[in-house]
Amino acid sequence: MATEEFTDAIALLKADHREVEDLFAQFEKAKDDNRKWEIAQKVCNELKIHSMIEEEIFYPATKDAVEEDLYKEAFVEHDGAKVLINDIMESGGQGEFFEAKVKVLSEEIEHHVEEEEKRGEGYFAQVRDSDIDLVALRDQMLARKQELQAQAESGGLPAAELTAVDADAS
Ligand SMILES: [Fe+2]
Ligand SMILES: [Fe+2]
Repeated sequence: MATEEFTDAIALLKADHREVEDLFAQFEKAKDDNRKWEIAQKVCNELKIHSMIEEEIFYPATKDAVEEDLYKEAFVEHDGAKVLINDIMESGGQGEFFEAKVKVLSEEIEHHVEEEEKRGEGYFAQVRDSDIDLVALRDQMLARKQELQAQAESGGLPAAELTAVDADAS
């Protein structure tokens, strides 16, 4: 994956969003259970990697550029999705609620993506108004993404760790 493929950090994150939306659409259309399970695992891996590069790199680097509420809600929304992601991965694609879980996950992600991409007032729009170096951020995120993809392909990624919800509970 060449760096030049994405103009900056936001372009990279938006491309991830489109990829995940495409996978959810494929899941809806898939007829057999094996195919559905295959797609569900892909979606979960993509979302794990995406939320990690955002939480480890993008969100901390942009914290001061966005409204505090929006910043905090992003972590809580990620955690909500991670609960379903971990549950789906553990299910092996089995169980009467499997498809419902993937559907609700897609709805949660749709809402979260809207919060990030909303014109004028979304997370990305607020970051665009700042003077943060989004090209340097892209390089950092891309490197981490490639590292996580390699990990996913070799041994598989561990379960997603809750960031905000867990911290409050303990
Ligand atoms: Fe995102
Ligand atoms: Fe996010």
